[in-house]
This record gives sequence, structure tokens and C-alpha cells, in this order.
Amino acid sequence: MQSKLVIITGSARGQGLAMARLFAERGASVLMCDVLDEEGASSAQELADAGHDVRFMYHDVSSSSSWKSFVDQALNWRGRVDTLVNNAGIVKRSNIETYTEADWQHVMNVNLTGAFLGIQIVSAHMKAAGGGTIVNIGSNSSFTGHPDIGYATSKWGMRGLTRSAAMELAVAGIRVNCVCPGLVVTDINRNAPHLENIVAHTPLSRAVEPREVASVVYFLASEESSMITGEEILVDGGFTSGGSFWRIGTDAGFYGAK
Ligand SMILES: NC(=O)c1ccc[n+]([C@@H]2O[C@H](COP(=O)([O-])OP(=O)(O)OC[C@H]3O[C@@H](n4cnc5c(N)ncnc54)[C@H](O)[C@@H]3O)[C@@H](O)[C@H]2O)c1
Repeated sequence: MQSKLVIITGSARGQGLAMARLFAERGASVLMCDVLDEEGASSAQELADAGHDVRFMYHDVSSSSSWKSFVDQALNWRGRVDTLVNNAGIVKRSNIETYTEADWQHVMNVNLTGAFLGIQIVSAHMKAAGGGTIVNIGSNSSFTGHPDIGYATSKWGMRGLTRSAAMELAVAGIRVNCVCPGLVVTDINRNAPHLENIVAHTPLSRAVEPREVASVVYFLASEESSMITGEEILVDGGFTSGGSFWRIGTDAGFYGAK
């Protein structure tokens, strides 16, 4: 990714920040953005102080006018966008009974519409430049039900968005893939009551580190994955592929001593 321009949404903190750091360490120029202005500016400053080529800009992914200014900034800086990572996401922890329409729309607007708007505006520039890569951040709840019905719905939507965009944009040399993390302990869930129980149903028996998600994003953004498009990769330590049976098997002594 040497000298490539990478834009990463929701990168003031958490997994997006880990992605910004990894891409920057590998020689990319990174335009970070978030609605957390101060935190984003200070995270970007820290990376710049370490000698990396990064900038931060306020950007709300749910707004198409904000997307326009953000992409204009990237083009003014480097004249192109090589990689877009649609990482910004929110959760409401509501259910059918408690979801307000405004909260439902907010989740869809940030988690799903935001990614679509990004793909729409960025792919036009990538087409003109001859190609690029797009990585969407889903979740293991892109494959399962989830206690937050709106979150799961938006994250399942990321898979449809990924596959449809991958088909449409292949001819333009643009690959589109989706990374689906399991439990990563970040500010989105740090105080949630169910974290230990998720680990108890994870065959690799721990939470995912932000850097472990970032490295799969990097792989899908780089030429190392040149024949992969329209794909979803789970990074969840085996939780989705069989965590419940693994727990049952472990408790029953199938895998040796508990
Ligand atoms: N943490 C997990 O266990 C987990 C698991 C699966 C998927 N994910 C997904 O990973 C992504 C990153 O989450 P995280 O764990 O780093 O949590 P996080 O809360 O630390 O990061 C999400 C970032 O998105 C930003 N954001 C929210 N609304 C925005 C908007 N309108 N415009 C721009 N930025 C906005 C937030 O300010 C925050 O910095 C999200 O899409 C999340 O759904 C997280």
C-alpha cells in the first residue's frame, strides 16, 4: 500500500484507529474521519508524531454533503482514493418493543446508508482512476440474529451491499469485500454485560484484538487479495462457525479436560 491514499470512516478510536495505524505503518497515506472531532484529531496527531502520513477530518457518514466535502479533501490532498474502508458503526441495544423509529433510522443511516453513500461517491473517482478497493465492516451478526434487531439488520445489509457492489464494480477494476469481526472490546461495548459469555462460546477463548481485524482489512485492500471480491471474512475465533456446539462439547468433555 506504499503511497496509496486510504480513507477510513469512524477512525477516531477502536478498530478504525487500529486500521489507520496499520495502513500508515505500511506506507499508506491515511485520511481518518469521525464525528468525534477532538478524539479524532488527537489520534491522528499521535500517528503523525510517530512519523506517519495521516490527516483527520470531521465527517458524518450519514450525510451525503459531508461525504462530498470529505472526498474533496482526499482528492485535494492526493488526487485519488485507492481504498475506502466503511468502518463507522453504532449500536442502540434496543429490541422490537423499545426501538423508536428515530433510533432505527439512525442505526440504518450510519451503519448501512453511510457505507452506500461512500461507495457511490468514491467508486466514481476510482473508476476514473482505473480501480481501487473497498472494505465494508460487517459483524458476526451479519450471519446470525442479535439482541439489537436494528444492528443485526444493518449488518446483514452490509453483505448485500458488498456482493451487489462487487458485481457492479468488477468491470471497473474495483474489488469490494466485507470483514465481519466477532467480539472486539472497544468503546462500543466496553461496559456491556455479556462479554464474558461471548468468550465462553468462542473456540479460540478470547476477544479479538483490533489489530487482528485491521490485518484482514489490510489484506483485502491490498494486491495480496487480487482475486477476491464479493467475499465476507469472519474474524471471530470460531464463534459463528460452531461456538455453541464447541461450548456444549467442551462442557461434555469431548475436547479433553475442561
Ligand atoms: N466491537 C465489536 O465487538 C464489534 C463487532 C463486530 C463489528 N463491529 C463493528 O466494527 C466497527 C468499528 O467499531 P468499534 O468496535 O471500533 O467501535 P467504536 O465505537 O470504538 O468505533 C466506531 C466509530 O464510529 C464512529 N461513528 C459513529 N457514528 C458516526 C458517523 N455518523 N460518522 C462517522 N463516524 C461515526 C464513532 O464515533 C466511533 O469512533 C463498527 O462498524 C462496529 O459495528 C464491532
